[in-house]
Amino acid sequence: MAEFSYKSPVVLKSRTRKKSAHIYSNLGSISFSKLLILVFLILLCKTQDGFVKVEGRNFTLNGERYTYLGANYWAGMNLGAPMNGNYARLTSDLDLLQSNGVRNLRIMGSTQGPDYKPHRITPSLEYECGRYNEDTWEGLDLFLYEMHKRNMKAVIPLNNYWGWSGGFDQVIEWFFGENQNDTEIFYFRDKITKHYDEFIHLIVNRKNTAYLRYEGRTVYYKDDPTIMSWQLANEPRSINCKEWASWISGRSQLLKYLDSNHIVSIGTEGTITTCQKSGNEVPTIDYITVHAWAQNWGWYTPSSREGFEQGVKKVQEYISENIKENLNISKPIVMEEFGLARDGLSFDPKATVNIRDDFYQAVFDEVLKRTQEGIMAGVNFWAFGGKGRPRENGGLMWEPGDDFIGDPPHEPQGWYSVYDTDHSTLELIKQYAQKFEGIQ
Ligand SMILES: *[C@@H]1O[C@H](CO)[C@@H](O)[C@H](O)[C@H]1NC(C)=O
Ligand SMILES: *[C@@H]1O[C@H](CO)[C@@H](O)[C@H](O)[C@H]1NC(C)=O
Ligand SMILES: *[C@@H]1O[C@H](CO)[C@@H](O)[C@H](O)[C@H]1NC(C)=O
Repeated sequence: MAEFSYKSPVVLKSRTRKKSAHIYSNLGSISFSKLLILVFLILLCKTQDGFVKVEGRNFTLNGERYTYLGANYWAGMNLGAPMNGNYARLTSDLDLLQSNGVRNLRIMGSTQGPDYKPHRITPSLEYECGRYNEDTWEGLDLFLYEMHKRNMKAVIPLNNYWGWSGGFDQVIEWFFGENQNDTEIFYFRDKITKHYDEFIHLIVNRKNTAYLRYEGRTVYYKDDPTIMSWQLANEPRSINCKEWASWISGRSQLLKYLDSNHIVSIGTEGTITTCQKSGNEVPTIDYITVHAWAQNWGWYTPSSREGFEQGVKKVQEYISENIKENLNISKPIVMEEFGLARDGLSFDPKATVNIRDDFYQAVFDEVLKRTQEGIMAGVNFWAFGGKGRPRENGGLMWEPGDDFIGDPPHEPQGWYSVYDTDHSTLELIKQYAQKFEGIQ
């Protein structure tokens, strides 16, 4: 734990102490039965506190099982930014998700600059090493606040193995220059780990400006039930299992030390990469994630129906393989990313999505079954584009000035996005969101 000592959680400690001093000073005037009631209420509050927790293979929320059909919606932080964002777009997207029963969003909690580099989410949060764009921070504040108003939960990755948000390679470049070719050194250099841990301090202790502005309440991120979990990164990979597990252990311990309310996940793709199990076994990791990319991994290309059944079977097998691999680790498992191209591999938002709908249904069915069995806990489709649209007919990479949609800036825009006009997909999502909510 020595590595945590360079900054102590002063705020947390002093607030707790003040609260208990207040309770003690009133004790003299409270009768024993009143005290019992007080204790009971405190215990009740403890289970009704609105934080997602883990019990065995289940998530729980206010004492009941929590299962969900959610979306990936990483653009929310930028859309919420007071100066550079688009509030109307953000709120209409969230309203649409809500009206279709989507109450869990996997978002993005950290992006790196510099903002002149191509094919990245900009404006970034951390535009230079250790310097943060307050407008983007306030975008995340407002996004979380708008989610809170709609009774939604956020899964928040704290960095990214891939470069579309700056990510690991950018941080490595800040500390060790441009000529590093090994993304994995991100886990194995003290300077980088210290920088990562400093960001943990910053984000869990962030005071949400939107709660203050709109409700006059001081809400630190670490105390906000809108946040379901911290995720160490988007799709981190490693081939040095023991060392990697030790990095995971250190970061997740720090998160829990500074923030005892929230659960923690790694954000990995599953058994397609190495070292899965050594990460999932870390005691301070609360649940297991699986991502399935049929076309990217060569299982099925939806240029036609040919191979569809085989593609679905591959996804089912992949889910089984991940369940099997983690069989003796009793933690919830979430299918956190999957998606499919539009019909004929079109990037045009006007193209049909018949095959995609069937694929979504097959994946929803599989995860639903596993969730009903008590083996899995939820699913997030990739990704919600809402009212956003790609430039021209799609297929180009993202450029500043383009709408954010579901596809990250470095990928052909329109590949995997679900828009507000994809009525059949939204109907399917609504139908299955209800099924997931209905699971006891
Ligand atoms: C998980 O939830 C199911 C369904 O409510 C229940 O049968 C099971 O006992 C729960 N498991 C734990 C560990 O709470
Ligand atoms: C990465 O850099 C190392 C050391 O400079 C070098 O030996 C290795 O070949 C490089 N690998 C690649 C894939 O460029
Ligand atoms: C799961 O099994 C593996 C190999 O059989 C073992 O090394 C590991 O410690 C087990 N994990 C748990 C959490 O029991």
